[in-house]
Amino acid sequence: MAQPDNGLAIETSGLVKTFGTTRAVDGIDLAVPAGTVYGVLGPNGAGKTTAVKMLATLLRPDDGEARVFGHDVLREADAVRSRVSLTGQYASVDEDLTGAENLVLLARLLGHRKPAARQRAEQLLAAFGLTEAAGRQVKNYSGGMRRRIDIAASILNTPDLLFLDEPTTGLDPRSRNQVWDIVRAVVAQGTTVLLTTQYLDEADQLASRIAVIDHGKVIAEGTKGELKASVGAGAVHLRLRHADQRAAAEQVLTTALNTPVQLDADPLALTARISDETEQGAAEHASRALAELSTAGITVDNFSLGQPSLDEVFLALTNRPAHEQTEKELAS
Ligand SMILES: Nc1ncnc2c1ncn2[C@@H]1O[C@H](COP(=O)(O)OP(=O)(O)OP(=O)(O)O)[C@@H](O)[C@H]1O
Ligand SMILES: [Mg+2]
Repeated sequence: MAQPDNGLAIETSGLVKTFGTTRAVDGIDLAVPAGTVYGVLGPNGAGKTTAVKMLATLLRPDDGEARVFGHDVLREADAVRSRVSLTGQYASVDEDLTGAENLVLLARLLGHRKPAARQRAEQLLAAFGLTEAAGRQVKNYSGGMRRRIDIAASILNTPDLLFLDEPTTGLDPRSRNQVWDIVRAVVAQGTTVLLTTQYLDEADQLASRIAVIDHGKVIAEGTKGELKASVGAGAVHLRLRHADQRAAAEQVLTTALNTPVQLDADPLALTARISDETEQGAAEHASRALAELSTAGITVDNFSLGQPSLDEVFLALTNRPAHEQTEKELAS
């Protein structure tokens, strides 16, 4: 598939959309590498859907620029539309039709002849675990089945760029996992995915880079490791076999990691923070420390290297939790 020289599926600068006095999107710069899952993470009302709609040419930006595979979303909207597909927060399939009828109809609208349309529909229904439900009206689908048929509808023709706007909001853990598997499969086919989510673990699971947005602005951007490192490095947790080796272990670790070591309440356990900025650096550092413990004859029974969670990242960036309830939610 044709890509601009800079390898970017999406490039925006100073993108703005206002509704009355609300600056829903307030000057967003994004650079989304082609072939990856890019996560846009933000709470209710952050501006995620508004940003996606502008990129998908469904909404006109008030200011700034946006390019999709090098095509300007305003001046070359048709070229953009031919390369993208959108699975909205509010689904687009026909409730009264069956799952199979929906997919066949949409495939026909995309120009597939009847046998090819049927074949593609069957293929997707099988891939999404919907073969048994194929003959049922979509209005009788569960939330998870509904979300899956919606994504299936959006990839009838493999798009170069797929927008998934909160694809798992409100789904149970099992259905979320099924959707995650689908996203992974879609990317493995070469599609770039822009995924919006309110769930930090979802971005953590799927995305290679993440932009955290709040009140229409990007407040942090980077790889997961960079984001986590930006608010504090990871920590190694150790559990020794012999309590009488803890003092020696403390000394070895303090020197090896060059950071203070904390003695936990458990007489066998120690914790040390790692100051590296990258996951890889932290892992290398930690494994060297382990080797030195072994050289010193100290037996380690259990070892883990933990990074701060994305929840902690959000809290550190915004001073409030990602899932603070909005007044609207509290009222309902
Ligand atoms: N058509 C509209 N008219 C007026 N205000 C709007 C419109 N669409 C969005 N907004 C406002 O713009 C802001 C951003 O909304 P948007 O839907 O982009 O947020 P979001 O991040 O997608 O939130 P959610 O997680 O709830 O879907 C909100 O304050 C919202 O009320
Ligand atoms: Mg939204």
